Amino acid sequence: MARYLVVIATTLHLASASTITRLSLHILAACVWLGGQIVVAGLLPTIRSLGEDAPRKVAQAFGRLSWPAFWLLILTGVWNYAAVHGNTMSSGWNTAFGIKMLAVVLAGVGTFLHTRATTARAKGIFAGIGTLATLAAMVLGVALAG
Ligand code: HEM
Repeated sequence: MARYLVVIATTLHLASASTITRLSLHILAACVWLGGQIVVAGLLPTIRSLGEDAPRKVAQAFGRLSWPAFWLLILTGVWNYAAVHGNTMSSGWNTAFGIKMLAVVLAGVGTFLHTRATTARAKGIFAGIGTLATLAAMVLGVALAG
């Protein structure tokens, strides 16, 4: 598989096999973490109609997929920074990267507190913070990639 990627990337003058792997994994993880949050939020009224316990069960099942995706984002994010030699980038790029790191921390903490909150109001606020911070991290990521 990796060999085929190298041959295809070289022949067609595409990004290198390692860049394709690195960014595909980063984007796949962002799809699961952020896309999943948006989809579950959109399905919430239907999930609630399935029974009192349904939202908790769905949230737990989603957490088993979304948290590994979050850790994959961190792992591939570190790989991204190393691959693009972030320390040699402009100060503007590094400022955007720093803001993105703050957004990532807020995304993780907000989402974690959402899972621990006991009132509907607190759950909603922390879910909003987590999702908005993730959206900011995603947009800044696109800006960093150029
Ligand atoms: C909530 C978590 C995160 C989300 C949603 C996210 C999303 C993204 C997206 C969508 C891109 C653009 C990829 C492209 O256009 O090719 C990107 C790029 C990037 N991300 Fe993330 N990211 C996250 C976490 C991280 C972390 C934790 C780091 C560093 C430790 C990081 C470092 C980078 C870098 C350096 C790039 C530019 C890569 C390049 O130019 O090749 N990201 N990110």
